[in-house]
Amino acid sequence: MTTPVHQRIRIDIVSIFGEYLAPLRLSLLGRAQDIGLVEIAVHDLRSNAVDVHRTVDDAPFGGGPGMVMTPQPWLEAMERIVELGRVRFGDTVAPIVLVPTPSGHEFTQRTARELSGARWLVILCGRYEGIDDRVLAELGEHYDLRPLSIGDYVLAGGEVAALVMIEAITRLIPGVLGNAGSIVEESHANGLLEYPAYTRPAVWRGRRVPDVLISGDHAKVARWRRDESIRRTAARRPDLLRRVPVGSLDAADIVVLAGLGWRLGADGPEPG
Ligand code: 6GU
Repeated sequence: MTTPVHQRIRIDIVSIFGEYLAPLRLSLLGRAQDIGLVEIAVHDLRSNAVDVHRTVDDAPFGGGPGMVMTPQPWLEAMERIVELGRVRFGDTVAPIVLVPTPSGHEFTQRTARELSGARWLVILCGRYEGIDDRVLAELGEHYDLRPLSIGDYVLAGGEVAALVMIEAITRLIPGVLGNAGSIVEESHANGLLEYPAYTRPAVWRGRRVPDVLISGDHAKVARWRRDESIRRTAARRPDLLRRVPVGSLDAADIVVLAGLGWRLGADGPEPG
């Protein structure tokens, strides 16, 4: 008997550089599309441009460098996407509209987890100095609109950020990733970075894998991994360690923290 496969998520992407999104066909995500767990459609913004030159940008009001993306093509692209979506979903599903931008809210693992439960996402990929802000004002009145940034640096356009978000979101959908257990233990799942991983050979270039990992003592392995997660987070991401809920720390965790010079403050772990 074959298991029925349900369409889990539809993602419509608007861009002037659809070629940038070619990697969506590869690997896990390509397979997820093949088996119908994920459906992705890329739409060319320029097909909604009105003039013969298919212009999608113009100089900024108020002056300054660069170009701003003109509003009308975005609205028309959105209207077409929503019309197509209505055929599929009826009026029962509304899209969540993501706008990748360095001035957006922070996209985190929590955001990815939330959006992995969505039925329909539309992603608007701007270029140049961004999209005329009235597009966001207009769409924000009709849709759940999310300006999102993937980090504190500036990319040339939203496409690469869209790839990042789509990969982070879709790998959390049941059936997309081969091994569901790896989602539970990975970095950021529990507010800490993941512990270091090793495989064969047990000795490589004179470097031994930590003995505990070959001991066969599962409780000891779990404790060692937890300690290493805490150490690594303290060293590389003290900002994350400060935000770990005190209630999620056990007595052994607190001993490890103390060994690193951290103590428990009122709002969580604190260095020094
Ligand atoms: Cl989402 N877009 C662009 N263009 N640059 C970014 C970004 C997004 N996140 C960080 N930098």
